[in-house]
Amino acid sequence: MKHIAIFASGNGSNAQVIINHFKEHPHIKVSLVLTNNPSAGVLKIAQQEKIISAILSKDALQDEANMSKILKALQIDYIILAGFLQKVPDFVVQQYKNKIVNIHPALLPKYGGKGMYGQKVHEAVIADKATQTGITIHLVNEKYDDGTIILQKKIAIDANDTPKTIAEKVQQLEHAWYSQAIESLINN
Ligand code: GRF
Repeated sequence: MKHIAIFASGNGSNAQVIINHFKEHPHIKVSLVLTNNPSAGVLKIAQQEKIISAILSKDALQDEANMSKILKALQIDYIILAGFLQKVPDFVVQQYKNKIVNIHPALLPKYGGKGMYGQKVHEAVIADKATQTGITIHLVNEKYDDGTIILQKKIAIDANDTPKTIAEKVQQLEHAWYSQAIESLINN
């Protein structure tokens, strides 16, 4: 069995889709939901799905002994970031080389980096009069939004689009592609 941890800070709609995708999977299991945000919607999802959850403050995330203990106890093999707004500590990146995946709601390398998340990304895309946007699924290294790209999917932007309509379209793309990108990474 390969065990996945989902790290998320918000609603957890991607987390929910991923959990559903792997529910009956013969050798991949979502075994932990970790958040830095005690009021994150993703905690409710974990509870409903009977998945172990952990809430770690920014400082607690940096506690190598504690973090390693949690990941080891649950035999975590892969870490999936789904709207996780804290930086993954370097020691975790080193321990999980090529085994941490992130999804970004734009076409990296544009519209990424520290502070580029949520609506800000879509606002920047609109301000730029970009004609297309999309999603980027990539491996995580020590820098924000910088690791090897696994998959990108594009959508066109039309004249009537707003940050909100783009956010909705991008989220649909995320839900459609993230689980299978994770599955093929783990299988290969
Ligand atoms: C997604 O748009 C993802 O690209 C970004 O954070 C958002 C998370 O949404 N990194 P949700 O919590 O999965 O609904």
